[in-house]
Amino acid sequence: MDQAEKLRDLVRKGERQTNPGLKEAIKIYTIMSGKGGVGKTNITVNLAIALQRKGKRVLIIDADLGMANVDVILGVYPKHTIYDVLFKQYPLEDTVITSFEGVKILPGGSGMMELASLDIEQQEAFARQFLTFEDIDIILIDTGAGISKNSLSFIAFSQELILVTTPEPPALTDAYSVIKIMVQYKLDKNIKVIVNRCSDDISGEVIYQRLNSTSKTFLNKSLEKLGHILDDSRVAKSVMDQTPFLIQYPNCPASKCICRIADELLGCSSHGSRIYSIQQVYKRLLKVFG
Ligand SMILES: Nc1ncnc2c1ncn2[C@@H]1O[C@H](COP(=O)(O)OP(=O)(O)OP(=O)(O)O)[C@@H](O)[C@H]1O
Ligand SMILES: [Mg+2]
Repeated sequence: MDQAEKLRDLVRKGERQTNPGLKEAIKIYTIMSGKGGVGKTNITVNLAIALQRKGKRVLIIDADLGMANVDVILGVYPKHTIYDVLFKQYPLEDTVITSFEGVKILPGGSGMMELASLDIEQQEAFARQFLTFEDIDIILIDTGAGISKNSLSFIAFSQELILVTTPEPPALTDAYSVIKIMVQYKLDKNIKVIVNRCSDDISGEVIYQRLNSTSKTFLNKSLEKLGHILDDSRVAKSVMDQTPFLIQYPNCPASKCICRIADELLGCSSHGSRIYSIQQVYKRLLKVFG
């Protein structure tokens, strides 16, 4: 960074402090994988908690159409999903769950895809409710494994992708297939990689390098390294206890890795179009799903 850029940065920071109206951009990330069971939901939930602790206000959208996911890991049982909000006049604020450290969860289910079938009045009613999410800085979308029509829509809605894999060859092969499809659909945006369940720090680096060099060679696509998470028996224990590992075992290896990833994510420069208000988030939602 040259001197002038440093100064501009200082001015921007100063402006932000003196002018709270000048918000930082809202970031939207979709968490995805090729193979199932590689740790997406655990990463989404614990990363959200880590980011919330660092002063960000996080909304998780549970976009997995299959099994209930985020809610089970958090030990909460939402009675309603976005579908009830759209078609049964159920209030959005009663559908959203506030969990550990204030992380908000919106049970998405299949409802989002239904936005397309709403008439103008229904859309406006939903918009009025959606716009109450004005205090959100980061949206994390947890999807099911692989690529479906539903997950493609969420990928289009988000600005960046977080691709989770483990070091196992089948997970890596499937991760590569996902990147390939993203490139084909021109949805590749910025892909950040997390290697989960690593035996040590070095293997995390080696696996990322391997995936990145394959992707660069055959797809002409570079991947960003977001970090790795060590294999840690406390993750499974915390799932059994329905309490996120960052809450239950704040100093365990997996927790330390998640905190490092949260720092890395906050340090990343933005890609894609900048979104400053929940109105803009809503417009984007309509553009993709509407
Ligand atoms: N770092 C880790 N160390 C040890 N075990 C882990 C780790 N991460 C995940 N697991 C194990 O993997 C299981 C699956 O994790 P999770 O449900 O988060 O995966 P997922 O990718 O969301 O799965 P799905 O594709 O079915 O949605 C967890 O219940 C846990 O037992
Ligand atoms: Mg999951």
